[in-house]
Amino acid sequence: MATLPSTYRAVVCHEYGQPLALDTRPIPAAEPGTAIVKVLSTLVDPSEKHRLLLSKRNPYFSQQPPFIPGSGAVGRVAALGKDATSLQVGQLVLLDCFVRGRDDPNAQILRGVFEGPTPAAKKLSHQPENCYPLDEKVLLSKVEQGGLEYGISDLPYLSKHSVAYGGLRSIDLKAGQTIIITPATGNHGGAAVQVASAMGARVIAVGRNAKALQDLKEKIPRVYPVQLTGDFAEDTKTLSQFGTIDAFMDFTPSSMASPLHLKACLAVTKTYGQGVLMGFPQGEISLSYGMMLAKNINIRARYMYDAEDVRGLIKLAERGLLKLGHSSGAQVVSYTLDQYGDAISRAAEQQTWGLQVIMHPFTE
Ligand SMILES: NC(=O)c1ccc[n+]([C@@H]2O[C@H](COP(=O)([O-])OP(=O)(O)OC[C@H]3O[C@@H](n4cnc5c(N)ncnc54)[C@H](OP(=O)(O)O)[C@@H]3O)[C@@H](O)[C@H]2O)c1
Repeated sequence: MATLPSTYRAVVCHEYGQPLALDTRPIPAAEPGTAIVKVLSTLVDPSEKHRLLLSKRNPYFSQQPPFIPGSGAVGRVAALGKDATSLQVGQLVLLDCFVRGRDDPNAQILRGVFEGPTPAAKKLSHQPENCYPLDEKVLLSKVEQGGLEYGISDLPYLSKHSVAYGGLRSIDLKAGQTIIITPATGNHGGAAVQVASAMGARVIAVGRNAKALQDLKEKIPRVYPVQLTGDFAEDTKTLSQFGTIDAFMDFTPSSMASPLHLKACLAVTKTYGQGVLMGFPQGEISLSYGMMLAKNINIRARYMYDAEDVRGLIKLAERGLLKLGHSSGAQVVSYTLDQYGDAISRAAEQQTWGLQVIMHPFTE
């Protein structure tokens, strides 16, 4: 086993609202219950929300600086605590940013964003709960050797897909069903369109940006783009053309007070249909109590996902059902750690699904 270097470099937030810095830090020892991972590729989060979260301390979503911002990465295990049972040094892993306590679901953290309000949640920041093995032979080998021939930069977007898969599993979406996703053109909405299609569903992709919707249709199978107006009667009529609608999924962003299309989604969803709320609008929702009751509609909210969802999602990708990176039709652009400023600017340029900006802190 190669000896670990004594230091690593990382882009660090020292103070909210201040520029990030490229620091050299000591590599910690692999204590029991932890793993040291050499990060090969990481997604530069494109969302406006992520930048806002770094611009000033948010009372709910923040952590004590200094910290390394980010939202998921792919790397190789470089060292393991003595008690490690299944992970191996050298193994390719997905580092997931979200951790929920096994024995306390109230303890949850988003590593790189939010360390959780309680001492129990803070403890989770130091455990390897979020290392998921990836089948390197399948994902990275050449097609002629039976692999999917992905590059290391194609893999970190799995962190966005996980959110979508958590929501779709929570409503038990099945192959052949029809789901409305709104808005479908953002990073999480677009990832949800990909995952729902990979699960075998027909997807009605709702949005306002005709070009972005067309892009989803051209690149992802079974996608039907729809531009809605926000007018209940008109939108209901448009969605009714698709026949039976089994479910809807909402990803309304925090820039909006409330979802635009939820009432129309509810109106067209079948009896015993399902809805899942996954956005973060600032305001409240108002829906017809009578309609939900009369149709036995089950509406739930879903924050992130469970470990089982991540494992299931990885299988969907390893079996070739969920296409990743270039193969999914997305544009993947790579930067070194020294180019972190350019990478962040590039990610900010495009808020729609289809661009994956990746940084490579280490190379093999
Ligand atoms: N449940 C969870 O665990 C979870 C996890 C991650 C994120 N989220 C939340 O999910 C939401 C979406 O995240 P994201 O990363 O997909 O955001 P994003 O990439 O910024 O996308 C925003 C989407 O909202 C649409 N939109 C923005 N303003 C609009 C308006 N005025 N009218 C109609 N459509 C509008 C955009 O459409 P255009 O293309 O037309 O601009 C785009 O489709 C956020 O609130 C985020 O916090 C939830």
